[in-house]
Amino acid sequence: MAVSCLLELEPGSSFEGYCLVKEVKQEKTKKGDPYLNITVAKKHKMVSCKLWNNGFGGRSVEELLTIFTNGAMLYLAGDASEFNGQVQMTISDFRLAQSGEVDFSEYIEMAPESIESMEAEIRSFIDEIQIPILHQITSELFEENKKYFMNHVAAVKMHHNFKSGLAYHTLSLLRIAKNICDQYGEAVNRSKMYAALTLHDMGKIVEMTKDFTAPEYTLFGQFLGHIQIVNQMIDRKLVAIRNERSVSLEEVTVVYELMNIISSHHGPLSNGWGSTAEPITLEAHLCHMIDNIDAKINMISKATADMKEGDVQKVWGLGKIYKPSN
Ligand SMILES: [Fe+2]
Ligand SMILES: [Fe+2]
Repeated sequence: MAVSCLLELEPGSSFEGYCLVKEVKQEKTKKGDPYLNITVAKKHKMVSCKLWNNGFGGRSVEELLTIFTNGAMLYLAGDASEFNGQVQMTISDFRLAQSGEVDFSEYIEMAPESIESMEAEIRSFIDEIQIPILHQITSELFEENKKYFMNHVAAVKMHHNFKSGLAYHTLSLLRIAKNICDQYGEAVNRSKMYAALTLHDMGKIVEMTKDFTAPEYTLFGQFLGHIQIVNQMIDRKLVAIRNERSVSLEEVTVVYELMNIISSHHGPLSNGWGSTAEPITLEAHLCHMIDNIDAKINMISKATADMKEGDVQKVWGLGKIYKPSN
């Protein structure tokens, strides 16, 4: 009997049911025959699928690409096998779901906490920023952008690529930072940590599309990336404040220090992860480490959710991951 829920799909089983299209790529076999590589999903589970040309049903690739579009809900039939330790499906039949046929919310992955409570908690962290110019910039940028910020994904593929993933990721970092600041007292500047972490990925609201079913990089995102985008937002705020009142050298310095923390939150330039400056303060090093902790926890939890205990699997961006049996 075919499995109807993608979450239950395993190698060797067949599938007949609904799923969301996450990514579509047009490919050619060595012989030159066209086929499609399609990633479909339900909640956190993503399955890579092949639609070989003997399954096109007489349609051209162009026609198929109007059916298999990012974010489309499809009814699929196929057979699952194992490839590189991952489940993979060969599609044998497909159609677009009619509107109203499926409850989209059952297919979309969402942050595990409510938007309202996350928003209130992020605001309470911002309220603790004691350096007035950092408080003003962080608070104004958060309030002006919260409509998008609170719903946005934090990634297209990697960690926190779900609805409100950006807010959930940001809040997780703030919570970790609170513990570090409580532990180390004056050695770590709480205000700089909270300001930098609240803003560090805010540029993603411009870098990625607002579609949380199948987010993609925008053209603006590809031009600049989220680090440069948020630094521009911060610099525009600094200019606006300077147009209203005189700003001291000390204040300008702390705003540039904030921009250094953000510019280096992907780590040292040598790792090639996209920082645009070297981390040169304790807070900059800490923000990178905290960001990395949260990203790794999310990526590994996601990868192991569907693995069997005792299995080792290759996970994109991480290498081999083992799921212990405890
Ligand atoms: Fe980032
Ligand atoms: Fe981040």
